[in-house]
Amino acid sequence: MIALEPSIKNRPEFINVRVRRQDGPGQKPYWELHKIKYEREMNVISVLQRIAAQATTVDGKKVTPVAWDCGCLEEVCGACTMVINGRVRQSCSALVDRLFEENADEIVLEPMTKFPVLRDLMVDRSRLFKALERVEGWVPVDSYYNLGPGERISREDQERNYPLSQCMSCGCCLEACPQFTKIELTRQEGETEEAFEARKKAEYDEAFVGPHAISQAMLFNNHPTGKALAAERLEALIGPGGISACGNAQNCVAVCPKEIPLTTSIARAGRATTLHAIKKWFDR
Ligand code: SF4
Ligand code: SF4
Ligand code: FES
Repeated sequence: MIALEPSIKNRPEFINVRVRRQDGPGQKPYWELHKIKYEREMNVISVLQRIAAQATTVDGKKVTPVAWDCGCLEEVCGACTMVINGRVRQSCSALVDRLFEENADEIVLEPMTKFPVLRDLMVDRSRLFKALERVEGWVPVDSYYNLGPGERISREDQERNYPLSQCMSCGCCLEACPQFTKIELTRQEGETEEAFEARKKAEYDEAFVGPHAISQAMLFNNHPTGKALAAERLEALIGPGGISACGNAQNCVAVCPKEIPLTTSIARAGRATTLHAIKKWFDR
């Protein structure tokens, strides 16, 4: 007979879930305690589904269902990222039985702190995607006609690129990075949508781009077609909020759920930007 794990032997009847809620952007956050029935093999998404279905706190108060974001439910889209028991991670892959090992009394759910809260556990990650635009994190195609077979990629480059290609834009590395600080802007009275977006973009463009974007720049600079934009990406990394803003605290690499070697990418970017700057100086 297989011995049961202690956490399973001591299965509780109910789970206490403490949720940090916020009714909308810029609103005051508050805590709410929910109690749901324990079921086997639950993850935090199924916990949130039970909470939304009962929409009643532990003291019987009827409340609006807690809002959260998710997509793939298999740790691929990155949308469900939140702070669970004090650690940033994906709620779809956070298993309740494992969480009990960290805190047997309750599960604590909070939105990420580095992005503006839209509602409850949902945050606005658009700055993360804007950072990918800053470094042109894509393979450029100038047409849709058949361009023929692409250049062969050596095994060495495949092995170097593959781990970086697994980034799911989840934001964990940004939540952990001390150099990536929250920017939350509100639309001013009389400001058009376009003017507000332009002001946001200008602010984002000055701030630290983040380890995910630096790593994607290194991925595409090492791709046979992607490297056509290598100089532009290095220029973006030399500019304000680029590579020099990284303090090398290495928190990012410690929390990345895909174990992407972010500090290796940052070191590569440091060398590449230095060589690029020297080359520019000689080309003057
Ligand atoms: S190494 Fe750089 S990017 Fe990573 S956590 Fe530290 S400061 Fe942030
Ligand atoms: S580098 Fe890792 S932690 Fe950062 S966004 Fe990509 S997958 Fe998430
Ligand atoms: S729902 Fe896609 S990563 Fe969790």
